[in-house]
Amino acid sequence: MELTRVTLTDPKQGGYMYNEAIKTLRSNIQFSGKNIQVITITSCFPNEGKSDITFHLAKEIGKSGKRVLLIDADIRKSVYLTRYDIQERVEGLSSFLSGQISWERLINRTNYRNLDMIFSGPVAPNPSELLGQKEFKQFLDQLRNVYDYLLIDTPPAIGMIDAAVVAQICDGAILVIESGAVSYRVAQKAKAQLEKSGCRLLGAVLNKVDIQQNRYYGGYYNRYGGYYGYGNSGKKET
Ligand SMILES: Nc1ncnc2c1ncn2[C@@H]1O[C@H](COP(=O)(O)OP(=O)(O)OP(=O)(O)O)[C@@H](O)[C@H]1O
Ligand SMILES: [Mg+2]
Repeated sequence: MELTRVTLTDPKQGGYMYNEAIKTLRSNIQFSGKNIQVITITSCFPNEGKSDITFHLAKEIGKSGKRVLLIDADIRKSVYLTRYDIQERVEGLSSFLSGQISWERLINRTNYRNLDMIFSGPVAPNPSELLGQKEFKQFLDQLRNVYDYLLIDTPPAIGMIDAAVVAQICDGAILVIESGAVSYRVAQKAKAQLEKSGCRLLGAVLNKVDIQQNRYYGGYYNRYGGYYGYGNSGKKET
């Protein structure tokens, strides 16, 4: 059976530091053990950089020869179709979870090696209910046999239940923290919430670091349960 094929155009590849940090993140994940296969990427607040990291990480895992499926579980708002200028008509997770389409129409091959994608689909009024269905877990369990890694992008963890619902069916979570935007207390709250879901926190990614101002950036973030070196100027390319 032929799956739909989509072409993604990445308008702004990450900078050198960003790409190096993504590679470090990939190898840390690969060393976290064979039982870590389904991973959710979340953050406390909107706009901290989850979706960018999920995509670049998925690409990098694919390049390393492992089969990866990126699942956009942000049913409240999808960025992938417009951000990567996808022209093909695609179906999405919300349609699948509400029983409107079958899985064959859900999974898309991409122009990146070993990388398949599931988009979020039309905005649904009840995202956490859809994601909490046992059918979603069963579906992921089947996909474990097909892919080496499943990466799940979610909405922010604070103030919305979706990330915690998804974490319940994942082996591990990565918490993205935007430098200077999240207090220690709030990060701890997100960590506790993930762990309550029974999901292992694999580590935190400190994102949007202003390297000019943070020569020794990252050190303090050890407290958040792990540290993946990660940096970008935090400024938009000019
Ligand atoms: N390291 C970085 N340096 C500078 N800008 C960044 C970096 N990472 C992401 N951005 C920018 O920040 C914005 C938010 O990124 P992204 O959509 O990945 O965040 P998100 O956490 O998925 O947001 P949401 O919670 O709304 O889904 C985008 O405009 C993106 O280009
Ligand atoms: Mg996002």
